[in-house]
Amino acid sequence: MIRVPVALADHSYEVVVGSHVLGELNDLVPDRAQRAAVVTQTGVDLDLPLTIAQEVFLVPRGEAAKQLAIVEDLCRSWARWGLTRHDVVIAVGGGAVTDTGGFAASIYHRGVAVVHVATTLLAQVDAAIGGKTGVNLPEGKNLVGTFWQPSGVICDTSTLDTLPTRELRSGMGEMAKYHFLTDLPTDVSLEEKIAACVRFKGEVVAEDEREGGRRAVLNYGHTLGHALEIAGSFDLRHGEAVAIGLMFAATLACRLGRIPGERVEEHARIVASYDLPTRMPQGVVIDDLLALMARDKKALNGLTFALDGPRGVEVVTDVPIDAVRGALEEFAA
Ligand SMILES: NC(=O)c1ccc[n+]([C@@H]2O[C@H](COP(=O)([O-])OP(=O)(O)OC[C@H]3O[C@@H](n4cnc5c(N)ncnc54)[C@H](O)[C@@H]3O)[C@@H](O)[C@H]2O)c1
Ligand SMILES: [Zn+2]
Repeated sequence: MIRVPVALADHSYEVVVGSHVLGELNDLVPDRAQRAAVVTQTGVDLDLPLTIAQEVFLVPRGEAAKQLAIVEDLCRSWARWGLTRHDVVIAVGGGAVTDTGGFAASIYHRGVAVVHVATTLLAQVDAAIGGKTGVNLPEGKNLVGTFWQPSGVICDTSTLDTLPTRELRSGMGEMAKYHFLTDLPTDVSLEEKIAACVRFKGEVVAEDEREGGRRAVLNYGHTLGHALEIAGSFDLRHGEAVAIGLMFAATLACRLGRIPGERVEEHARIVASYDLPTRMPQGVVIDDLLALMARDKKALNGLTFALDGPRGVEVVTDVPIDAVRGALEEFAA
């Protein structure tokens, strides 16, 4: 078992990573809590060894959980059950559940404590860490949300045994991302790899909790990744889209003279070693992708990318549109 501290300015918490570590959950629940509202989905099916009263509140499966209407349902059900502001919400599932449960917890009674039990690889290395919560609107993904740090996070690797292969690969896409952001150890257990990702994300978040600057490096590979996801006609899970986005970002960085061709080849080797796609899907329309990337809500001035370079990955603003178009054409060829 590995305990990774996330040291924020005004409150710190622990992420417990390991196999069969659900027993640590009681330690992460605030002492004053007398009841736990457990938010989860069918298919996740975990029995929590809690020592306080618990009630399960089911949300729809997958991304369908992330709706304002579901947040209202949760808050109303909690009120009927008698959940107070001193109690705790426990979100048990992938990123869709931790985002929705965390958001509802952040606004119920103006904020109740939340503990995340992350049950997908993607949630363990990314979504459950760092305190971003939110839901989707018909107008776009994650348009409504809060920063609400959990009281603790459990990443129990034994819960991944039931995860469909495709979901595991999606998490691998985020892991590949961390590979380029930090020295991710390779010849170690999954537990140690997850802990290394959590440690890195925790450090970045501690430095820049509200994404004023450095935190945006966590979007490495995401600008094209999001565009491919929104473009819609490609059958890609988030992490698979990110993997393609990583390769594109390397191509762009090389065109801008930030990295040599060997580093692009290294990207390809590493992404492929995670069993992830390294090429653009068939049938992309360059103009559509450009328009979607320009609309990315993280864009500040012109096109903004997290790009590799001599000092490692950093956020680069005002990337000339012609360079982006050129890199897209080269990458899609
Ligand atoms: N808040 C953040 O910082 C952040 C970061 C990255 C992603 N996200 C969000 O996370 C979401 C994606 O999360 P995800 O990839 O975990 O997908 P997900 O939560 O949709 O889970 C994928 C599927 O796996 C099922 N599942 C979950 N755990 C399981 C288990 N142990 N066994 C079997 N099935 C299981 C779920 O019910 C779901 O159907 C997106 O909505 C994304 O926006 C948030
Ligand atoms: Zn991501």
